Formats: sequence, structure tokens, C-alpha cells
Amino acid sequence: MLSIERLCVSYGDAAALTDVSLEVGDAELVAVIGPNGAGKTTLVNSVAGLLPARAGTIHLAGENVTLLPPRELAERGVALIPEGRRLFNAMTVEENLEMGCYRKSIRGWREEGLARAYELFPILAQRRRQIAGTLSGGQQQMVAIARALMARPRLLLIDEPSLGLAPIIVKQVFEIIATIHATGVSILLIEQNATRALEVAQRACVLDCGSMVASGSPKELEARGDIKAAYLGQG
Ligand SMILES: Nc1ncnc2c1ncn2[C@@H]1O[C@H](COP(=O)(O)OP(=O)(O)O)[C@@H](O)[C@H]1O
Ligand SMILES: [Mg+2]
Repeated sequence: MLSIERLCVSYGDAAALTDVSLEVGDAELVAVIGPNGAGKTTLVNSVAGLLPARAGTIHLAGENVTLLPPRELAERGVALIPEGRRLFNAMTVEENLEMGCYRKSIRGWREEGLARAYELFPILAQRRRQIAGTLSGGQQQMVAIARALMARPRLLLIDEPSLGLAPIIVKQVFEIIATIHATGVSILLIEQNATRALEVAQRACVLDCGSMVASGSPKELEARGDIKAAYLGQG
């Protein structure tokens, strides 16, 4: 589904990613873990077309999409759940969800999309007319996830879904991610909470200082003492 080869991304002269390679297979869930400032958000934002690659390539389902703008990536089925949710805080839950359903090819999907979103998140059905900014953090994360699903993604990019949430809510959010994955969506999941991420991922990569320092199955990573000590302590 997604193939990243030797991607380099910079902010001005400061390199944020250097020669990062990564694959996400069809219906696969790959986690990227790593400390604050490692370049995780930079990675998903580049895949979503929000940041240009300085070098390297990004292929989606075999097509070179490296230089495509965000709108074109969305048309091809890439949806981003951004770090910090980025809801339209003054709009209702339902208006937020509708914002996810803007691309041309899926305009007729609105009703079915909303029905599916409310089935997955019954609490949002109850609160469909509530202003999003007044929801709890966990409910806001649910809106962010549901909004991305309204775009009928083939590839879902999820950036730090557990950030700022209580442990019980984090557990629910990861259950939802596993449920979405089970429907066949490919997922690239960014997380600082390595423990939770490795529970749901089929493969995981460790990013540090803009470089991939390890990758493998969760079991393989946990078996590496150096990786475990340096990166898997959190959560
Ligand atoms: N808009 C920006 N301008 C300049 N530097 C940035 C910007 N965003 C991130 N950086 C830098 O790029 C590096 C990677 O950041 P980021 O991708 O946000 O890491 P992570 O998501 O892993 O915490 C950090 O050193 C950060 O300071
Ligand atoms: Mg980040």
C-alpha cells in the first residue's frame, strides 16, 4: 500500500528525516515509535503531502506520489488523524464529521458514513449536535478518528492518538484502532506509548533523531535488549 524509500525532509536547513525507508502492506498496521522530536509527525505529514520531500520517494499502491499535494493524496485514499486532533472546535460533532467527507469520489457516502461513525462511536450519536470544543479529550479523539473514516481511507495515518488522554481512554482508543484495522484499512500508527502500539501493530519501526534505528515484529523488537532499554520503557 505504502512504500517510502530513503525519504529526507528538512525545515529550512535543519534535517528532520534522513534516509527513512518504510513499508506498510495492504491491510497491515505498522507502528512508528520513538522519543519526542524524533521526526514522527514530520513523517506522517510528508506522507499526507503537507511537507515536501527533499529527497527519496513515496509510492502509494505502486504510484509515485512523492510530490503530490494533500488534496491529491486524499483523493487516493490517504487520511490523516493529526497530532492534537485539530477539530473545528466551534462546529458541532456532526459538522466535523461532514468535513471528512469532502472528496469528490465519495460525496454520496455521507449518510452511510455518518451511520457507520455513530455505530462505531455511540457516544458521538448522542452528542451529534454538541459543539466539538466542549467534548472531553477522549471524545474529541473519537471525533478526529470518525472524521478521518468519513473519507473512506485506504491508508490511515494516525499521529499520537493517546496524547493527553487518561489510561482508560487510551485503552478504548487502541481498541477502536484494532477494530478499524480489522475492516481491512492499512494503518501507519505513530505513538510514544510503545507498549500499547506494539500490542496492536504487526510490525514496528523505531525512529530517533530523524533516522530509522530498528524495525521488526513487536516480538523481535522486544527481544532486543538495547531497543527495549532505550525505547520501549514508556506506557
Ligand atoms: N515547523 C517546524 N519548523 C522547524 N522545525 C520543526 C518544525 N516541526 C518540527 N521541527 C523539528 O523537527 C524535528 C522533528 O519534529 P517532529 O516531527 O514533530 O517530531 P516528533 O513528532 O517525533 O515529536 C524536531 O527537531 C523539531 O524540533
Ligand atoms: Mg509528533
